[in-house]
Amino acid sequence: MEKLIGEKVKIAVFVSGEGSNLKNLIKFSKKKKSNFSVKMVISNNFKSKGLLYAKKTKIITKVYNFINKKNYEKKLLSILNKLDINLICLAGFMKILPSSFIKKFKGKIINIHPSLLPKYKGLNTHKRALINKDKYTGCTVHYVNNKLDSGKIILQKKIRLLKKDNIESVRKKVLKIEHQIYPKAIKKIII
Ligand code: GRF
Repeated sequence: MEKLIGEKVKIAVFVSGEGSNLKNLIKFSKKKKSNFSVKMVISNNFKSKGLLYAKKTKIITKVYNFINKKNYEKKLLSILNKLDINLICLAGFMKILPSSFIKKFKGKIINIHPSLLPKYKGLNTHKRALINKDKYTGCTVHYVNNKLDSGKIILQKKIRLLKKDNIESVRKKVLKIEHQIYPKAIKKIII
């Protein structure tokens, strides 16, 4: 995969809900050692806490319905180009992007997923890991292609699953390591 070249890579983060990964990326981007900056936040959900946080920090935000691509794709592409966005980071974004859009940003869209891919693509990852009595779970940052959670893996981190764990405890532990690896994964793909 071609690496992105540049000083501070301009990223757009796509969120639908809580936005803890988004907050973490914004915080990280403000560090001296950061080689990326969060230029804009896109959401399908007006009420997304992530979106509201971004608004407070004065980052440019946009909301599209992501239902019918005719209604938003052109506008979305135009604003991303206008702001010279080099990389799109999906962080808890619950909509499927159209293949035409993915094609235009080929190799420049990444996602964070709460499992050790290729295990447990899709939803309810922690529940499935617990039901299967897995010894480990974790998270993965990967490139986005047209197949759900199937693009090339950039970085993974695993944690042990304990007998006393439940969905909530695993969710918390996994989020913690997500926050560690997402900035690292971005760094890894930028020269
Ligand atoms: C994370 O677990 C991420 O891996 C998944 O959705 C969750 C988003 O959490 N894709 P947050 O909105 O970043 O807090």
